[in-house]
Amino acid sequence: MLKRTRIKDILTHEKIGEETLVKGWIRTFRNNQFIALNDGSTIKNIQVVVDFENTDPSILKRLTTGASIAATGVLVESQGRGQSVEINASHVEILGDCDPEKYPLQPKKHSMEFLREISHLRFRTNTFGAVFRIRHALAFGIHKFFNDRGFYYLHTPIITGSDAEGAGEMFRVTTLDPTKPPTNEDGSVNYKKDFFSKETNLTVSGQLEAELGALALSEVYTFGPTFRAENSHTSRHASEFWMIEPEVAFADLNDNMDLAEDMLKYVIAYAMKECPDDIEFLENRLVQLEKQLPQNERSPMPLREKLQFCLDNEFQRLTYTEAIDILRNSKPNKKGKFQFTIEGFGADLQSEHERYLVEKHFKKPVILTDYPAEIKAFYMRRNDDEKTVRAMDILFPGIGEIVGGSQREERLEVLEKRMEEMDIPKHEMEWFLDTRRFGTVEHSGFGLGFERLIMFVTGIANIRDVIPFPRTPGNAGF
Ligand code: 4AD
Ligand code: MG
Repeated sequence: MLKRTRIKDILTHEKIGEETLVKGWIRTFRNNQFIALNDGSTIKNIQVVVDFENTDPSILKRLTTGASIAATGVLVESQGRGQSVEINASHVEILGDCDPEKYPLQPKKHSMEFLREISHLRFRTNTFGAVFRIRHALAFGIHKFFNDRGFYYLHTPIITGSDAEGAGEMFRVTTLDPTKPPTNEDGSVNYKKDFFSKETNLTVSGQLEAELGALALSEVYTFGPTFRAENSHTSRHASEFWMIEPEVAFADLNDNMDLAEDMLKYVIAYAMKECPDDIEFLENRLVQLEKQLPQNERSPMPLREKLQFCLDNEFQRLTYTEAIDILRNSKPNKKGKFQFTIEGFGADLQSEHERYLVEKHFKKPVILTDYPAEIKAFYMRRNDDEKTVRAMDILFPGIGEIVGGSQREERLEVLEKRMEEMDIPKHEMEWFLDTRRFGTVEHSGFGLGFERLIMFVTGIANIRDVIPFPRTPGNAGF
């Protein structure tokens, strides 16, 4: 029996004259004769030519947009324009009907908002097919990058009993009955009676556990889902997102920046190599979309040029203090155009400031280092100035912060002092402190927001459209 060939393989190998079985979903059916069929293996459709004179009219009627079919026939050179080969179907079988009156995806442009409401079907559009093929390529590229460099993929827990990262609000994990939880004598909830005999949450980051791994295996990385119950309604925040967190022993902040820059360039190049058709499609989509915008709001470069530019240029590295000077003296700051005016050292940078630095001032990716200790996490290594820490954030055009990382505080006394100052419960973190007690070493790591990377590579403007089923405040559909 003839085996199914994927459309991507048919179009790659072009075995003219060969009997071919193809299966997929109908995108369009024209002139009672030409089916544009897609199976998701590539953005390209294959044209299936139906011999309508010898096909049962009841079958022809069922060849509608969205229906799934199996078609068998000889692969021939195409007579028409738009494709080099097509299948001369000798047999067409309907696998699953699709009522065109009810099918929400019509062969026309739909808004991204509408498609979000039908996230279960949006995979079938060109745009989302392209996005999720690229998402796969980036994930695979990340694993390949780290594996090729001898890193170990470490699975850090998703349910965690430590709430010390301080990166954001956490989602509680409990099996207690919310209407009548067991209580202590003072009326507070008795979590000793909860499933894990303690309070637990979904992780906001695998970093602390990754550090434990790195301080034995030297090079590790995590790649998993993380959860933040922040009430952020932006196009760059999701409540559930995926993060890549390498952690490296015997590495300082410069090594960390080199690793992050190498990784970003590697995976962007990898996606460009693996998904050229998808990226070309998304580039053209963006050009069309931006035609409605005034010139100064359009992207300065087409998508592929932007990606190539990112590969060809060194990221600009400067300290937070230097960045504050640039921002304080910038036109928008002086003219009161920023929503948050920069007064001086200590200001937390908002996305408007990050984007000014990247898009207007340097016009390329930027790595900011040595932030004020007050606005960063407890585990970052304190500098000799006692004011700043060995932190780094990587800022990307159109995205803002894409990576956050640091050299870690490896000195036990300094770390303990910092935890006391920041009210971090030390007794719950003895396991973390132990690594500083027993053979501590210099080490560093960072977290890359996977969805933000996908936004950059695809040019998709909203994080809700680069993850299959987005979770955001007020929304956990599907
Ligand atoms: O800067 P963050 O909070 O850093 C950490 O969690 C560290 N523990 C990482 C480490 O050093 N191992 O988050 C890291 C990155 C951000 O730069 C951003 O790209 C992404 O994660 N991110 C989000 N992405 C989508 N939605 C959110 N709500 C995000 N919060 C952070
Ligand atoms: Mg951050």
